[in-house]
Amino acid sequence: MLDILKASWIKAAANNGDTATDFFRTVTVKEGVKHAALTVTAHGVFEAFLNGKRISRDVLMPGWTSYYTRLRYITYDVTDLLNAGENELKVGVGKGWFFHNVESWGCDSLKHDQAALICALSITYDDGSTEEILSNKEWTTAKSNIVFNDIYDGETLDLRIKDAAHTPAVEIYYSRAMLIPYEGVPIREQERIAGQKLIITPKGEYVIDFGQEVTGYVEFSADVPAGTEVILKHFEMLDKEGNVYTENLRGAKATYTVISDGKPFTVKPGYTFYGFRYIQALGAENIRPEDFTAIVVHSEMKRTGYFSCANELLNKFAENVIWGQKGNFLDVPTDCPQRDERLGWTGDAAMFSRTAAINFDVKAFCEKWLNDLEADQLADGSVPHVSPYTNIYWNGPDGYNSPAWSDVALIMPWELYVAYGDKGILARHYNLMKKWVDFMIAECRRNGGGTLQLPWTTGGFGDWLSLEELNSESAYSGTDCGLIAAAFMANALRILMKTNRILGYEDGEYPEILKKTIAFFRNEYMENGRMKQETQTAAVLAIIFKLTDNPQATCAQLVENVRAHGRITTGFIGSTYLLDALTIAGEDTLATDLLLRTEYPSWLYPVTKGATTVWERWNGIFPDGRFADAGMNSFNHYAYGSVLSWMFRRLAGICPDEAAPGYKKITFAPAPDERIPWVKATLDTVCGEAKSAYQKTADGWEFTFTVPADSEATAVIFGKEYPLEKGENTISVTV
Ligand code: BGC
Repeated sequence: MLDILKASWIKAAANNGDTATDFFRTVTVKEGVKHAALTVTAHGVFEAFLNGKRISRDVLMPGWTSYYTRLRYITYDVTDLLNAGENELKVGVGKGWFFHNVESWGCDSLKHDQAALICALSITYDDGSTEEILSNKEWTTAKSNIVFNDIYDGETLDLRIKDAAHTPAVEIYYSRAMLIPYEGVPIREQERIAGQKLIITPKGEYVIDFGQEVTGYVEFSADVPAGTEVILKHFEMLDKEGNVYTENLRGAKATYTVISDGKPFTVKPGYTFYGFRYIQALGAENIRPEDFTAIVVHSEMKRTGYFSCANELLNKFAENVIWGQKGNFLDVPTDCPQRDERLGWTGDAAMFSRTAAINFDVKAFCEKWLNDLEADQLADGSVPHVSPYTNIYWNGPDGYNSPAWSDVALIMPWELYVAYGDKGILARHYNLMKKWVDFMIAECRRNGGGTLQLPWTTGGFGDWLSLEELNSESAYSGTDCGLIAAAFMANALRILMKTNRILGYEDGEYPEILKKTIAFFRNEYMENGRMKQETQTAAVLAIIFKLTDNPQATCAQLVENVRAHGRITTGFIGSTYLLDALTIAGEDTLATDLLLRTEYPSWLYPVTKGATTVWERWNGIFPDGRFADAGMNSFNHYAYGSVLSWMFRRLAGICPDEAAPGYKKITFAPAPDERIPWVKATLDTVCGEAKSAYQKTADGWEFTFTVPADSEATAVIFGKEYPLEKGENTISVTV
C-alpha cells in the first residue's frame, strides 16, 4: 500500500480558524540515506520545510480540484535535505480553496471543519532497509505567525509571534477515498517584476505601480518599529481622478498585512494570491518602488505562440492576451484573478480554449481540469457553470447547464485534439462529452413529452456582455438564448460524431438528431437564409456552425449588420467567432477593420486606455473615464482575448487541419492587409516550429513560411495554392 494511504489525517486540537496551522515532526535518521521522499497533501494549501528549507518550488499546493472526489497528493524527493541525526519536518497549512469567507458564492460545499494534513516520509537506506514517518498523533501543531489567511482577503503575518506553543496533533477520520496521484502541472512563481514607480495620489495615498497587471503576490522589505502594521492593498486601476479604486474587487479585501517585530524584514505571502497592477502601502513611510517586487504565479506552461506585426497597439493587445492567460491559468482556468470570484467558469474556458492552446502548451493543464469537470458532471450528464463546483445557488437551483458554457465538455477536448493531435485526449474525456450531448437530447425529449422538442433550453447566460446598445451595462444577451442553445447543440453533436469516427464508435441516433437540430434552427430562427433576429451573434453562429442553408445570404446579412453598426455588438460567444465568420464571408478586410478599430467598443480600445490585460467588458471604462458598474467589472478576463486565434490562423495564416491534427498538415493562408505592412507568427507545434512571416514590398508581398520537420504544408495566397517544402519557403507575390 502506498505510504500516504497508511497515514492518518491530522489537525490541531483546537480549530485555528483563519490562522494557519503549522504541523511538526522531529525525524531522527540513521547514517546512509539512499533516498527519501515526502508524499503530502492537505485540506487547504500547504508549504513544507525540512530543517527550515522549503522542499519544493511549488506554491499553493495541492492546488484546486473537485475536492469531494479528487484531492491530489504530491511526492517530493527530499533526499538532499535530510541529515543523519535529528531533522525538523514542518508543514504549514493555510485555508486555500478549501475554505473561504465569501458567502455570496454559496461556497458552503467547500466549508470543511478545519485545516488538516496527511503525509508520509519514506526513507530507504543504503543497506536496503526502509522507514516510514507517517502523519499521526506523534506530530505536534502550533498556531502559525500567519494569523489570518484567505484566498480572497489575503494574509496577515505577525512577525512578533515566535515559538508558538506546540500541542499534540489530533487524528481525524477524514476520508482518504478521494486521494489521487498528482496530475496536471505545478503552480510556481514564474517571474519577478520590480516596482516601477511611486505614485502619491490626489488623496495622498502611497501607491506602487508595477506597470503590468499580474496574478500572484508581492515580496517587500521594510524596517519599521515593532508593532507597526504595514498593509498592502492590491488593486487593478486608479480611478478617473487618479485615486485608488478597489470597488470592483467586491467582497475581496485583497490585502497583505505584516506586523513588524522591530527588525528589518523581507516577506511574501504563501497561502493566497491577488490580481493587481498596483498596491497601496499603508503604515510605512518613505516607501521606495525598489522595495517591492511583484511575483507572478501561475501553472507551469511552456509558451508556444508568438505574434508580432507592424501595428503596436495590436502587439500590445496580443501581449495582454498572454498576460490574461498567465493570470487566469492558476491550476484552474478562471474567469478572473482579483475579485471575490476567481472560479472555473466553463463558458470563458470554452471560448478561450483554442487561443489558450496556441499561446502555451496547455494539454496537461486542461486535461486535469476536464477531469474536474467530469467529476462534477451529474449522473444525468449535467455540466456545471463552474468547476470545481461551488454550489452557485443564485443562478437557478443548482448552478448547472448553460448553452455554450456547458459545451466546454465538447469544445475543449476537441480544441486540444486539433492542437496536439492526440486521440487519447478524446478517449479520456469521451464520457464527459457523450453524457453532455445525451443530456441535451434527453432535455429535448422531456420538453416534448417523449418526442424531440428543441431547443433544449431557452435559458442560460446567452451571449454574455454583448453590447447591442452602446451605453448598456446589462450582462444579458441581445441574441435569443434558444437560438444559442440549438446552435451549440448542433456543434456538440458534430464534434461527438467526428470523435466517434476517430475512436471507432457507433453514431447511433446522433446523425438523425443533428439533422433535426439543423432543420429546427432553420425553421425557427431563419427565413430565406437570413436570421429573423438581426444580431451579429445570431448570424455568426449560423455561419460558423454551418447551420444555414444559404451561406451567401447569411453572410451578406452579417456583413450588412457589421457595416451598419461599424463596430462589434457581440458578447463572449459572438466575439469568439465573429472574425472567423467574416473570413468565411470573404470579408477579411472588414474583419481587420474591426480588429484595428480603436474607438469604443473594440478590442484595441482598452489598449488605448492603457490596459495591460484583457478586460471583462467592452465598457470596463467608458470613453468619458467612468467605470462600468463595480458589481461586475474585472480588468483581467481572458474571454475577449479569444480573437487572438484569428490573428494566428488568418492574419498570420497558420491553420491546422482537423483531418491531420497536431499540425501534421498546415495550410498557410494569411490575409495580408495594407494597414499591417508586416506580420510574424511562430507556433511551437508538436511537429516542430511553424512560422509565418510576411511583409509588404514595392510591388506586392513577400512571404516566408517555415514548415515543421514533421509536417506537410501548402500555402494559399490570394486564392492561389503553392506547394511548400519542409523548412523555409519564400514566396513573392505581385499585386
Ligand atoms: C463571470 C463570467 C462568467 C459569468 C457567467 C461572471 O460572473 O465572471 O466570466 O462566465 O459570470 O455568465
